[in-house]
Amino acid sequence: MLEYQMHEYDVLVIGAGGAGLRAAIEASARGASVGVITKSLLGKAHTVMAEGGIAAALSNVDERDNWKVHFADTMRGGQYLNNWRMAELHAKEAPDRVRELEAWGALFDRTKDGRILQRNFGGHRYPRLAHVGDRTGLEMIRTLQDHGIHLGMEVHMETTALRLLKQDGVVIGAFGYDRERGRFLLFRAGAVVLATGGIGRAYKITSNSWEYTGDGHSLAYHAGASLIDMEFVQFHPTGMIWPPSVCGILVTEGVRGEGGVLKNKEGVRFMFGDIPENYRSQTADNEEEGWRYTQGDRNARRPPELLTRDHVARCIMREVREGRGSPHGGVYLDIAWIKSRIPKGAEHIKRKLPSMYHQFKQLADIDITEEPMEVGPTTHYVMGGVYVDAETQMSDVPGLFAAGECAAGLHGANRLGGNSLSDLLVFGKRAGEHAACFAKENRTPAHHGLDSDQIKAMAEHAVAPFERSGENPYRVQADLQELMQRLVGIVRRQEEMQAALEGIAELKKRANAVAVTGNREYNTGWHTALDLQQILTVSEIITRSAIARKESRGAHFREDFPSKNDGEWSCNIAVRQSASGEMTIERRPLPEMPDELKQVIEQMK
Ligand code: FUM
Repeated sequence: MLEYQMHEYDVLVIGAGGAGLRAAIEASARGASVGVITKSLLGKAHTVMAEGGIAAALSNVDERDNWKVHFADTMRGGQYLNNWRMAELHAKEAPDRVRELEAWGALFDRTKDGRILQRNFGGHRYPRLAHVGDRTGLEMIRTLQDHGIHLGMEVHMETTALRLLKQDGVVIGAFGYDRERGRFLLFRAGAVVLATGGIGRAYKITSNSWEYTGDGHSLAYHAGASLIDMEFVQFHPTGMIWPPSVCGILVTEGVRGEGGVLKNKEGVRFMFGDIPENYRSQTADNEEEGWRYTQGDRNARRPPELLTRDHVARCIMREVREGRGSPHGGVYLDIAWIKSRIPKGAEHIKRKLPSMYHQFKQLADIDITEEPMEVGPTTHYVMGGVYVDAETQMSDVPGLFAAGECAAGLHGANRLGGNSLSDLLVFGKRAGEHAACFAKENRTPAHHGLDSDQIKAMAEHAVAPFERSGENPYRVQADLQELMQRLVGIVRRQEEMQAALEGIAELKKRANAVAVTGNREYNTGWHTALDLQQILTVSEIITRSAIARKESRGAHFREDFPSKNDGEWSCNIAVRQSASGEMTIERRPLPEMPDELKQVIEQMK
């Protein structure tokens, strides 16, 4: 006999990072009852890995900044595949979302005259990142969770959603289990907001922790929603590479924003040798000018280390491949050198980058005020995700909303650092607002009937690994990570991605045969067996999308199609499950941008 606990809310939010919490706050504030489920503990989210700041044109440090410049920077960073309306809303609304966060208790670093301090980051024309040392994401989560709890949201920690429930084509809740006791849970809801973050665990080297197995992406796909831009996976240029146990942990772009430079083993600042044509006029071509920029000289051009992430990551890969890398297969990131320019430089570094100082001291026994760090690219973020309406964040399945990393549109082919935190705030709020509205307008108990056969089948599928003998799920997970890293990584080729697809098909068979022992209480082997279903779906979607896009753009670099092809590929690639269960791929035209925004982009060039 199948047993499950039932919970009912107007709005169910799946995921408790910045986007989920902001959605929950907004829905609660609008009178909806809100349940939040999180795979992990409240407060433990990848949001904290956006260390360097929240991008918002507050113009506190440089009054030339405004929403138009932020909009144009975001579009250029995304290589114009962004949804223009999302980029416009984001640039216009981010400053208010930051001020609101401050009003709720977030403590930002300050300018001398007491305003929120902003720092430089890659691809942003002016110092734009409101920050709290290098712990901005942490401060954001702390503030949002306090505020959300205060408004009455109910939180189910250590709870995983396995499938969305639908009736008459509308999403009406989710089925899952609590990880601690292994009990099944059924959530009935008037609307569901997906805010599950990213897919980093599909790769071997990643800044993402164990939770990020693409759950929201996969839940949406299986519920019939379209996903777009899934070929665009962001490899952050600077992750730790040594010792092996910490490989992939993020080294914030804030280090470069504060004057850190990248060098190869010959001591050469290799980024000077590779400045793309369209950034040349804004990029310093000598050390002195780059330094002056980081110190706030408004007439100086930005150092090449602050070019967009896709470009910097590829340059690092090239140095390593051509034999100029550091001993453990990366390059050097040096912030210690600024001591020659700043009195009490060591204290300055510790004050600006406290987490980085402790991270390297404790994990690698490196004092970053004295020695350079060894760094290399790490899988950090996926630009692709659930296709949503720009105003409401509703997917193409009624009742299903998505916000934050698991939604797509804002970032196009490449996200600028700092735009993730502002994305979470702007579109988390919108998703919460419109989900609450949808739930209110569609509240009819009859509509909420549940298909017990559907639920029974889900539960049987979930416990199947206990009932067979077979392979350990960790083995399959490790093989998938190895395969994605090797064959669908920073530099891609047709034959390799084709081989990846065959490998994924094989891994799917193995995942369907994995076995676990013990009981359902905190059984991490079982959790991994269930996560495999989601991450394999997402890996296949990434690979098929990457095969389909026969050009190089932003974070998607194909050695066999090294140029950008605007004529043919100024479009999104959309993936969807057909009625018969096939994965279908189509090109989707970009929405037409109004002339006044085209002019904004032209002016900013
Ligand atoms: O480097 C960082 O601090 C990361 C920021 C981001 O991904 O937005």
